[in-house]
Amino acid sequence: MTRILGIETSCDETAAAVVADGIDDRSNVIASQFDLHAKYGGVVPEIAARAHIERLDSIIEEALAAAKCSPAELDAIAVTNRPGLVGALLIGVTAAKTLSWAWGKPLVAVDHIRAHAYSPAIGLATVPWPAVALVVSGGHTSLYFVRDPLTIELLGATTDDAAGEAFDKVASILGLGFPGGPAVEKTARTGNPTSIDFPRTMLAHDSLDFSFSGIKTAVLYHVHGPGRTTGGLERLSPQNLADIAAGFQAAVIEVLVRKTLLAVKRTGVRTAVLGGGVAANRTLREALSTACLQKQLSFHAAPMAYCTDNAAMIAALGYHHFVHGDLAGLDLDAHCVPERASAISNQTLPSA
Ligand code: KG4
Ligand code: ZN
Repeated sequence: MTRILGIETSCDETAAAVVADGIDDRSNVIASQFDLHAKYGGVVPEIAARAHIERLDSIIEEALAAAKCSPAELDAIAVTNRPGLVGALLIGVTAAKTLSWAWGKPLVAVDHIRAHAYSPAIGLATVPWPAVALVVSGGHTSLYFVRDPLTIELLGATTDDAAGEAFDKVASILGLGFPGGPAVEKTARTGNPTSIDFPRTMLAHDSLDFSFSGIKTAVLYHVHGPGRTTGGLERLSPQNLADIAAGFQAAVIEVLVRKTLLAVKRTGVRTAVLGGGVAANRTLREALSTACLQKQLSFHAAPMAYCTDNAAMIAALGYHHFVHGDLAGLDLDAHCVPERASAISNQTLPSA
């Protein structure tokens, strides 16, 4: 058995986990900072970094204790070093480097977005690869062709806002607070998803890229009237609010599902997987699951515990880097941008 300690501090969750053999979650400890950022309506980088410093030691201790694993029993330490808020990432990277040196354990660097793409495999008895992975988070909305955990190619990405960002902004327009995704989902439950026809931005008919800035503006105009940004909310009844949330959510989900199916068709794979914070949205999970079932495709959504930011996905993907000898040195640095995934070309696709 190979046990990896994962450390994640890329944004506003301080997290540590122990995962065995890339799939078996022994512990998954997360300290969320929602309360610290809520009054600012978004994540404040300096506050996030400071909270990581204060909390990370005890979160790591808790993750080891919950997994009944001593430092000596670990095989390696995996840490998110990109992408994210650099000040926040640096806290995790510095902690991981220090522990790697102090405990004499190998260090592994993990890309946060690739870990979201891998997260649906945690706990599965058989590997889902090759697969199309839809990663929908607060900072990214991308479709990948995942050949295996370490070979991932970019099929399409958002040209403006990420899906999670659109959820957060719409929540703010509707006065639903922060973080927005769960609040929009909850409000949408009592709404009619067909009463307002928000735009479905598909870009070119065969494009695998996304654009969510138009729908955000459409919601803003629907609430306040064209050209205005305030003064409309008080006209809306709770039912109006629910209908807007449901209409917005339905439009975003329709685009995500259509493009995922297009990516599956283009690559010729028979499996789709879903990860990232927005993957916690039950309506999205059900819509993609139903669409895949209709096309006789396998579908795996990341278990709820691994959708929003967590360290189990870092330890799980870190295992694959470790067994392939892909280790980091003590000069490891933090980066705000993701590792470049090669853009896929038609020649490299498997035949359908
Ligand atoms: O993956 P994640 O935790 O952090 C990033 O890597 O960005 O994703 C956070 C995003 C936020 O935008 C949040 O509003 C969204 O995921 N989110 C949701 C739900 N839960 C979290 N969006 C829609 N429905 C949800 N239930
Ligand atoms: Zn994330």
